Amino acid sequence: MVLATVRLRLDALREDDADELFRYRADPVVARYQGWRPTKQTEALDFIRTQMQWSPETRGDWVQRAIRLTDHDALIGDLGLHIPVDTEDSYEFGITIAPEHQGKGYAYEAVRGLFDYLFDTFHARRIHASIDPRNQASDALMRALGMRQEAHFRERFWLHGEWVDDMIFAILAREWPEARKRKS
Ligand SMILES: CC(C)(COP(=O)(O)OP(=O)(O)OC[C@H]1O[C@@H](n2cnc3c(N)ncnc32)[C@H](O)[C@@H]1OP(=O)(O)O)[C@@H](O)C(=O)NCCC(=O)NCCS
Repeated sequence: MVLATVRLRLDALREDDADELFRYRADPVVARYQGWRPTKQTEALDFIRTQMQWSPETRGDWVQRAIRLTDHDALIGDLGLHIPVDTEDSYEFGITIAPEHQGKGYAYEAVRGLFDYLFDTFHARRIHASIDPRNQASDALMRALGMRQEAHFRERFWLHGEWVDDMIFAILAREWPEARKRKS
């Protein structure tokens, strides 16, 4: 399954993405608010190899898609999708954009494409994301997408040697048509 937006293509990670995936995912600034930070290139390669065939019906596991520039086929980031086992028609996502490609609207464009796909094609009822409240870029992205802050859990996760808070943002299928109009 491939998702296309104006400037991006979301498709399967390939083994030849390992160097680039490692380069930006190992960056301490990129990894600061995230659980996974590879310490060597082979970890990125193993990560790609263990990725399952992407399917929005896959429950329980996280599946990761490559985010590529349509013009160059270059990997500029990745988008993870999780379908919790205990909820119906409900999805969680997370996204990472390589530092030199940040601030150009790519995350917004990729997630907007994902939302269109999940709500329209898979009749998703609800999509949510979990972010570290200190992550201003992530917070801004969620709000730009029209997601609502639903929860703020104190010291929920142990991450990189400290307890960190967790904020939940969500959007429902019936809220998406209005939310997506805000930015064309
Ligand atoms: C969070 C992240 C994916 C945003 O990617 P991006 O491509 O730079 O985001 P966009 O350019 O699409 O911007 C989306 C919105 O966030 C805002 N934004 C982006 N970076 C920002 C920053 N550092 N500070 C404040 N606002 C920021 C943009 O202005 C835009 O809002 P607007 O439409 O109201 O102007 C990126 O910073 C990243 O990969 N961070 C490291 C990984 C990470 O922490 N991921 C967790 C995400 S769940």
